[in-house]
Amino acid sequence: MFPVERPRRLRRSEVLRRMVRETELSASDFIYPVFVCPGRGVRDPIQAMPGCFRLSVEEAAAEGEEALSLGVPAVILFGIPPHKDAEGSGAWAEDGIVQEAVRALKRQVPGLFVITDVCLCEYTDHGHCGKIDKGEVLNDPTLALLARTAISQARAGADMVAPSDMMDGRVAAIRRALDEQGLTQTPILSYAAKYASAFYGPFREAAGSTPQFGDRKAYQMDPANAREAMREVALDLQEGADLIMVKPALPCLDIIRRVREAFQVPVAAYQVSGEYSMISAAAERGWVDRKLVILESLTAIRRAGADLVLTYFAKEAASLLKAG
Ligand code: PBG
Repeated sequence: MFPVERPRRLRRSEVLRRMVRETELSASDFIYPVFVCPGRGVRDPIQAMPGCFRLSVEEAAAEGEEALSLGVPAVILFGIPPHKDAEGSGAWAEDGIVQEAVRALKRQVPGLFVITDVCLCEYTDHGHCGKIDKGEVLNDPTLALLARTAISQARAGADMVAPSDMMDGRVAAIRRALDEQGLTQTPILSYAAKYASAFYGPFREAAGSTPQFGDRKAYQMDPANAREAMREVALDLQEGADLIMVKPALPCLDIIRRVREAFQVPVAAYQVSGEYSMISAAAERGWVDRKLVILESLTAIRRAGADLVLTYFAKEAASLLKAG
C-alpha cells in the first residue's frame, strides 16, 4: 500500500485545517507603533510608509482609540520633537511630545496599554542614540539621559517603557532609576537583540532620525551574529528586563526561535518599517496579495516563537482577522 501516510487528509477542508492549526494569530498579540508630532489636526503622511502618518497628539489619541476598538490592546509611541539638540533633551522634557501624547491617550482611551520607546535618536540633532564625543557614541554618560527619559515617560503615565538604544547597562540604569522614583511597577520591554539593520530606513524618514554621520554599527548588533543575541538577552534579563524583543522580525526568525527556546520570558518581535514598506510596495504593484502576505508574515513571526508582534499592520491585520 502506497502511500501509508497521507498528510493531505488533514488539509482537505477549511474547518479541519482550522482544527489542526498550530499557530493562532490574534489582534491581542499586536502592538501598534504610532508617530507623534507637534501641532493640531496633523495627519502627515510618511512617504516611505504608505498608510502611516505623523500624528499630532489628539490625532494619535483617536488612532489609539480606533486600534483598541479593533482589539489591538497596545500602542508604542515614537516622538518627533519640535526641535532637536546635541543631547536630545526633548526626550525627557516634562511637556515633551511623547509625554503629552501619553497623557492624552491615558485620559481619552484609558483601556489602551501605552508603551513608550526610550531612545535619543529622534531627539538629537546628530541622529545618534546617545551622547557624542569625537565622533563616538559614549555609553556610560548616555545611561543617565535614558534613565531620565524613562522616568519622565512613566511619570506621564506610560504603562511600560521600551529602551531601543542598545547602550550597555541601560536596562539596569533604567530599572534602578524607576525604582528610586517609586515606579517599581513599570515593566521594561527591552529591545535586547536589536540588529544594525537596513530595514529601519523608512522609520528614519518618518522620525527624521537618520544619523548625520556614520551609522549605528558600533552599538546595534551585526546581523551576522546569533550567539551574541543570546548574550544580549541574558544580560538584559539579569539587569531586570521583564520582556525582551528581537528586531527586525522576518530577517531574524531564527533568532526569535532560539530566544524563545532558551528563555522563560515573553518575547516580542518588531516587524519593522522596511518590512512594512516592502510588503506595501509589492502589493501596490499587484505583485503580491496584500492581505495574504500581511497575515502570512505575522503568522510566521508568531510561529517562530514571538508572543507579541509590533507591527504597522496592527489595525489592518486586526480588521482582516475580524472579517475571518
Ligand atoms: C530608535 C528606534 C528605531 C526603530 C525603533 N526604535 C530606529 C533605529 O534604531 O534606527 C526602528 C523601527 C522601524 O524601523 O520600524 N532607536
